[in-house]
Amino acid sequence: RTVYVNGEYLPENEAKISIFDRGFLMADGVYEVTSVLEGKLIDFDGHAVRLQRSLDELDMQTPISKEDLLEVHRELVRVNEIDEGMIYLQITRGAPDDRDFVFPDPETTPQTIVLFTQNKPGLANSPTAKTGIKVISIEDERWGRRDIKTVQLLYPSMGKMMAKKAGKDDAWMVEDGFVTEGTSNNAYIVKGNKIITRALSNDILHGITRAAVLRFAREAQMEVEERNFTIDEAKQADEAFITSASTFVMPVVEIDGVSLGDGKVGSVTPRLREIYLEESL
Ligand code: PDD
Repeated sequence: RTVYVNGEYLPENEAKISIFDRGFLMADGVYEVTSVLEGKLIDFDGHAVRLQRSLDELDMQTPISKEDLLEVHRELVRVNEIDEGMIYLQITRGAPDDRDFVFPDPETTPQTIVLFTQNKPGLANSPTAKTGIKVISIEDERWGRRDIKTVQLLYPSMGKMMAKKAGKDDAWMVEDGFVTEGTSNNAYIVKGNKIITRALSNDILHGITRAAVLRFAREAQMEVEERNFTIDEAKQADEAFITSASTFVMPVVEIDGVSLGDGKVGSVTPRLREIYLEESL
């Protein structure tokens, strides 16, 4: 695989980052994951706008223009012949001479920017979309700025492991009884024909897929309610699903061992997935 590191395209085994990189030492970095379908980037603009916001919120410089970033994405898709998959992008505050809590001067410490592709043939036709996933609920123990897409993913990673250990697929995080989001996706329930999802705030990541799905749902005259819902309400919902750049719209058929509806994928979720895949291309 060819990867991109600080202005260079290199074979992945030749790419090198300093051990003093603040991404490595302090999780001082931001990232984006953009999906690729039929060789095309899905919602590049949305991801670029959120990346800029993440950088601004952390007082980080912008090391590359949006136009150049698009070019790097396209070049990596081309050279790695990605038809279906993802592009991972990470920007950190760079590698100062030593470990220090104080931010380095951006004049003397250039940021580190890395991009690589992940080939995922069959992503859009995933068989899991037909059967759905099972989730457990866990307490949300992340920091308070979940709207910034930082690389501090230890807790979400632990949550995913708790789900795996329980024989399930993922975890929904819960704060004060209300569902925030999945470990790496936004969470929704469906009651009748109404789609319910938590409103945007610092408590959750402002999903790019979320924005698109809600827009398409409203355009299709489906009812959308942006409000908090409890994990108990979720267990009594007709359907539930998650959205993210890597799963698009994915049904949830079980929460904490409780089957939703008849335990099978419902009708609203597959319809939304279909609309999303059609409209995003
Ligand atoms: N995760 N919430 C969290 C906590 C996430 O990590 C993600 C994305 C989302 C969905 O955002 P979007 O629709 O923009 O992908 C919500 C990516 C895919 C990841 O970490 O791999």
